[in-house]
Amino acid sequence: MSKMPESKVGSKLVIGNWKMHGGLRGNEALLQALTHGTKAMSPGLRIGLCVPFPYLAQAQQLLGDSRIEWGAQDLSSHDEGAYTGEVSASMVADFGARYAIVGHSERREYHREGAILVAEKAERALEAGLTPIVCVGETKEEREFAFTERVLSAQLDAVLDRLSVEQAASIVLAYEPVWAIGSGSSASCEDVRDVHHFLRQHLAQKGPAVARIPVLYGGSVKPDNAAGLFSVPEVDGGLVGGASLDAEQFLAICEAAAGTIGMVAAHHDHTGC
Ligand code: PGA
Repeated sequence: MSKMPESKVGSKLVIGNWKMHGGLRGNEALLQALTHGTKAMSPGLRIGLCVPFPYLAQAQQLLGDSRIEWGAQDLSSHDEGAYTGEVSASMVADFGARYAIVGHSERREYHREGAILVAEKAERALEAGLTPIVCVGETKEEREFAFTERVLSAQLDAVLDRLSVEQAASIVLAYEPVWAIGSGSSASCEDVRDVHHFLRQHLAQKGPAVARIPVLYGGSVKPDNAAGLFSVPEVDGGLVGGASLDAEQFLAICEAAAGTIGMVAAHHDHTGC
């Protein structure tokens, strides 16, 4: 086996993805609870929330003084122009956002977004000073036919081919097996370990700095499986959908992530992985 690239044990990143959920009043209560609940958590833990576009202003207003960063769930592949309904990266950045998810499987599937479009969106995000969270993942059928690595390589290569080494070293990658998203049961720790190792090796082909980017796991991360998943080697945190809508659950997941900071492989036993 080739040498495993250095992985970041000194920090963890947990990003909430609200998807198309929320409302002004409910958001306020949730954001206040999260601001309060995350205050005393380990400084090595970074936290972000990707909200629907209309709530970016609210996130800026209510999270501005907190440790929680915010972002969008998508953006346009264009800079500006006659693209009705589109939202540009610079518009998202105008609201103090740090992140933009690109290539989420729900966009790939329901909006027919292809690998090249996703790569263009990642590039637009970087140009606007945002950190793109690039999602990759295989479907159930692709896994059953043993196409997982081929699918992930194609999705990732489209992005890596488009970006300079410096740009590629500034992205966040999220492995989100499509079959685990919203299903209530996450991928197994073994599957996550194998895929993250594969992704890390693949990233390393673009250079050592790229091999060190955060690689998150997403797909039914819950309070009861978070510690196990986050203690898998080369998992730098999580992208959390459903459980990010509930303050108690999201805070428990953040706590679990904080608890795995600095953990080394030998200490995994008590997490169930
Ligand atoms: P889930 O969603 O946590 O509800 O499975 C994850 C995602 O789609 O990012």
